[in-house]
Amino acid sequence: MRQTTALAPIAWSEKGVRILDQTLLPGEERYVEISAVDEMVEAIQSLRVRGAPLIGVSAAMGLAAAASGSAQRGMLDRDWLDAAIERLEASRPTAVNLRWALERMRAAGDEAFASEREGRAVADALRTEAQRVWDIEAGMCRYLGEFGAQLLEPGFTVLTHCNTGRLATGGLGTALAAIYVASLEQDMGIDVVATETRPLRQGARLTAWELVRAGIPVRVVADSAAASLMAAAEIDVVITGADRIARNGDVANKIGTYSLAVLARAHGIPFYVSAPRSTIDSSLSSGDEIPIEMRGANELEVAPGAEVVNPAFDVTPADLVTAIVTDGGIVEPPFEEGLTQVLEQVTPQIEGRT
Ligand code: MRU
Repeated sequence: MRQTTALAPIAWSEKGVRILDQTLLPGEERYVEISAVDEMVEAIQSLRVRGAPLIGVSAAMGLAAAASGSAQRGMLDRDWLDAAIERLEASRPTAVNLRWALERMRAAGDEAFASEREGRAVADALRTEAQRVWDIEAGMCRYLGEFGAQLLEPGFTVLTHCNTGRLATGGLGTALAAIYVASLEQDMGIDVVATETRPLRQGARLTAWELVRAGIPVRVVADSAAASLMAAAEIDVVITGADRIARNGDVANKIGTYSLAVLARAHGIPFYVSAPRSTIDSSLSSGDEIPIEMRGANELEVAPGAEVVNPAFDVTPADLVTAIVTDGGIVEPPFEEGLTQVLEQVTPQIEGRT
């Protein structure tokens, strides 16, 4: 792939885990060292690390790093592990990848404790599992890129929302993976329109930063400009990521996604969602059950005395979604059967590494 400088939003380090502080981008590239559970909880809540898959990867790696310190102090036992998982799981409510990753970590810990391994060996098992979580998420991104690129054609202008690339996943991305593969491997000459993504501007700050680094043309527009661009026939396709997908195909994603889906339908433009299987929550029958994170008033600048309502995500009803790109293939409506099949199938190239 034509990609000049590698972009790593997370890495193992001597002290534990090193993360790129995404709150400072694009102005400053600063890395933060993390070795304790509370430090990772803070990093997730403040969005230093963010994006559904990367939240799960970060929680797993942070847990493993903290477990290693705890083992050195002779304090790593089941109670420590349960409490740490509980704290990390509660850090953000909407993206189900966090729970997916932590359930894998819990299972790895249970297995290690059950075989009566001592603290250091349990910590090693947790580190191995955290690396596996990262490998699997990155492996799934690769498939999302290849399947997603099949929906694009040379010269297309693709509108995308929030940030769904390397910064959000630890791999190639979800929605942006399709753009990376189509642009950098298949030379399709894709133009990207990135919505600013109010209030925290992940599109303007992060997606634009990633795409410029990769040499992919990107124009940033205010969220409110999407309708007029669609009306002027400047958008061929909309593709977004997801934070949680219910069994029926309802999609929770960054606030503003629902409006884009409505607009796409009104203008006859395909609206695609790209997400790995770790984002599909088969325990929920519809999007009504997805918990939506409400964030603080400090994220919006308003007149003193005015109240703020700041939901971080919204739910796009399945009937507005043209297709869902998963790592197991492209799923078309009605979604329930196809999503269930994806969850049941094993992708050897990904699972083979586990
Ligand atoms: O609040 P954020 O920045 O974590 O929100 C991220 C998104 O909504 C992404 O679109 C999403 O995680 C799905 S694709 C990586």
